[in-house]
Amino acid sequence: MTSIIIRKCSMEDLPILQEVSIETFSDTFKDQNSPENMKAYLEKAYDTKKLDMELSNTSSQFFFIYLKEELAGYLKVNTDDAQSEEMDDESLEIERIYVRSKFQKQGLGKFLMNKAIEIAAELNKKVIWLGVWEKNQNAIAFYSKNGFVKTGSHSFYMGDEEQVDYILAKTLE
Ligand SMILES: CC(C)(COP(=O)(O)OP(=O)(O)OC[C@H]1O[C@@H](n2cnc3c(N)ncnc32)[C@H](O)[C@@H]1OP(=O)(O)O)[C@@H](O)C(=O)NCCC(=O)NCCS
Repeated sequence: MTSIIIRKCSMEDLPILQEVSIETFSDTFKDQNSPENMKAYLEKAYDTKKLDMELSNTSSQFFFIYLKEELAGYLKVNTDDAQSEEMDDESLEIERIYVRSKFQKQGLGKFLMNKAIEIAAELNKKVIWLGVWEKNQNAIAFYSKNGFVKTGSHSFYMGDEEQVDYILAKTLE
């Protein structure tokens, strides 16, 4: 039997969370972005103090997923004011969903997605939403397979480059 475990992160997980966040972000985006922009983004986004604040925020939750006791990826969900766009209190944001390269395409992303749906249902949320880079075709395909549709877009800065994120959403039954 395959053993997949998901567990909620606590403050003690910060060093590992930082490591896996940087690894997965780099692996996902390094081929399509300059090293300078990657470095600038990584230093800002996964700064120790910033992650510390995110882990302490009661409207955010991080989860690690393990396959056969090996850390295989993580999930971050936000509600209320922790959401990175102005959304109502009936929404839950998947801010980060990352599976480490060697564990991809084995159903773990789906597992993390189901966890997010489960949390949203427990909190009586009506909508799950997320932002995804327009060029991240892999993730867009994964989200559409999971029933997400485009509802908007916004721009953001990766280092000095302005990029477009699509906003995708899924209404819960
Ligand atoms: C996107 C990601 C989370 C998907 O996780 P995964 O573990 O590889 O995906 P799964 O194996 O759980 O796939 C779930 C379903 O999506 C489908 N899917 C996954 N990737 C796909 C792709 N590139 N194209 C089409 N379908 C895809 C699978 O076929 C599967 O379908 P099924 O339920 O019919 O079997 C993972 O690839 C990842 O971490 N990518 C890098 C980080 C990233 O881009 N994160 C999102 C940032 S916004």
